[in-house]
Amino acid sequence: MFEEEKALVVEEVTAGYNGNIVLKDISFEMLHPSILVIMGPNGAGKTTLLKTIIGLLRPYKGRIFVFGHNAWENLSKIRKLISYVPQRERVSESVPLRVRDIVLLGRMAKKGPLSIPSRVDIKATKEALKKALVPREFWDKKFSELSGGLQQKVLIARALVTEPKILLLDEPFSAVDAPSQREIIELLARLRSKGVSSVIVTHDINPLVEYTDYVLLLNRRVIAFGKPEEVLTGENLSKAYGISVKVLAHKGVCYAIIGDYHA
Ligand SMILES: Nc1ncnc2c1ncn2[C@@H]1O[C@H](COP(=O)(O)OP(=O)(O)O)[C@@H](O)[C@H]1O
Ligand SMILES: [Mg+2]
Repeated sequence: MFEEEKALVVEEVTAGYNGNIVLKDISFEMLHPSILVIMGPNGAGKTTLLKTIIGLLRPYKGRIFVFGHNAWENLSKIRKLISYVPQRERVSESVPLRVRDIVLLGRMAKKGPLSIPSRVDIKATKEALKKALVPREFWDKKFSELSGGLQQKVLIARALVTEPKILLLDEPFSAVDAPSQREIIELLARLRSKGVSSVIVTHDINPLVEYTDYVLLLNRRVIAFGKPEEVLTGENLSKAYGISVKVLAHKGVCYAIIGDYHA
């Protein structure tokens, strides 16, 4: 029987730092290609989960499979299949790198030490920037001088330059203007149609809920996992965030409104 391809299978993963458990018994899986959104309050372990999936952090317990490969037994393979787009705020803006260097370095880093960029690498760099909607005139510009939206697109280009099958994006919409947000969401949906899955950590699912296949509500453990309409209930959101959460239903989809409310 034909078996559907699984991009990611996380099995009872417990992980943390220096023996302190941050994530407990995390299990979920996603078919390929699809878009998974991870939500949860600050300190919920969202970034920790991404780091564990990419193999920067070794789980204390449990297993992770990427396209059927056991992640910890095939780290170099996993890193070819997955690209990580870190939180933009954590990418040092004082480093005077130019747009093309950031993307090219992303490619060279995965080719191993002492490799020299070839014509193919330069071409791939240009193509990745184009795919990520960075206009050509920014090729030579300093990363630190770009707007938040453009910086985010450059980081996505850097992730795409190695032609991954899964993108992990950590809060890609923070300090990104609404039009760029929309462009990035549509880009991720287009990538999905071309066989690239995305795992997106975000505080605000509303702009992308219609493109979302799975939602993982996380607070140190899995509060809920499944289709958006199953997961995004007032009860689940309140459980995850520990506050009462308003949910608006629109066209059969629930929109969560998280924040301070004054009647
Ligand atoms: N490098 C680290 N060393 C020790 N503790 C960490 C480290 N990174 C994160 N933590 C702790 O793990 C918990 C979850 O952090 P994180 O995964 O960054 O949460 P989120 O991304 O959901 O805000 C927090 O309590 C944080 O203090
Ligand atoms: Mg985080």
